[in-house]
Amino acid sequence: MSVATPDTKKRTPAELARRKGGEPIVALTAYSTPMARALDGIADLLLVGDSLGMVVYGFESTLPVTLDMMIAHGAAAVRGAARACVIVDMPFGSYQESPAQAFKNAARIMAETGCAGIKLEGGEAMAETVRFLVERGIPVLSHIGLQPQSVNVIGGFRAQGRNEVEADRVMADAHAVAKAGAFAIVIEGTNEPVARRVTEAIPVPTIGIGASPACDGQILVTEDLLGLSDGHKPRFVKRYAELHQMIAAAAAAYAEDVRSRAFPGPEHCYGPSIIDRGPKPATSQRR
Ligand code: KIV
Repeated sequence: MSVATPDTKKRTPAELARRKGGEPIVALTAYSTPMARALDGIADLLLVGDSLGMVVYGFESTLPVTLDMMIAHGAAAVRGAARACVIVDMPFGSYQESPAQAFKNAARIMAETGCAGIKLEGGEAMAETVRFLVERGIPVLSHIGLQPQSVNVIGGFRAQGRNEVEADRVMADAHAVAKAGAFAIVIEGTNEPVARRVTEAIPVPTIGIGASPACDGQILVTEDLLGLSDGHKPRFVKRYAELHQMIAAAAAAYAEDVRSRAFPGPEHCYGPSIIDRGPKPATSQRR
């Protein structure tokens, strides 16, 4: 009888890059230690995405997210991930100015979180920066197609690649960052023909979000697939649970128990109070 050995190998950017065209890469977001622990060993890649600005902090976009927020959440996720490759997003304004600015902030993220690499948005315009970082030891996950940090330029969260010009742009962006050394590329919000053309044309894995099954892997915001947010559900999200309703139902049951004094019950209480036990003993026991 053969006993299956659990796969305890730590995923690295280099290992994920070698998965091109092979077993699909499973990627999810994680912003905290408990979430990273729950997903570790299931997802190959955990992204501490700047989507946390909208998902955790309630911002309207990712633009207000700061480097300090990304470092705090990045370090928390790394503490919960023994096997997954943890990548931390560079927030808006922390890398666009120059390759030197990007290196300074990416090095801070790497040193202060212990993550395996960083992600940044941008194709051709960021290729020089990607090369600068990779040549100095920082693995880069690029992000092209719909780039949420450019929402004010593109005029909203709208899919990219719907006409020839846009499709060519996505293709040129993919070539540029792949050539610059990105170990993989997130493609967000594009259609199947564009995602397929890009995936077939470049030598590194593509990880899609709203970009069809043609990619080498998929990523979703974990809170979206868990149904933790009750707001708008994008078309590309598949819900695997309805945690928002479960939380509301659990909290309502607790509220009812508190109001009816059914909680706490005797099993949730400590032993008899020392006040009831007469004079205080020489060494008091508090628990
Ligand atoms: O910020 C994020 O979580 C992302 C993924 C959705 C790709 O960029």
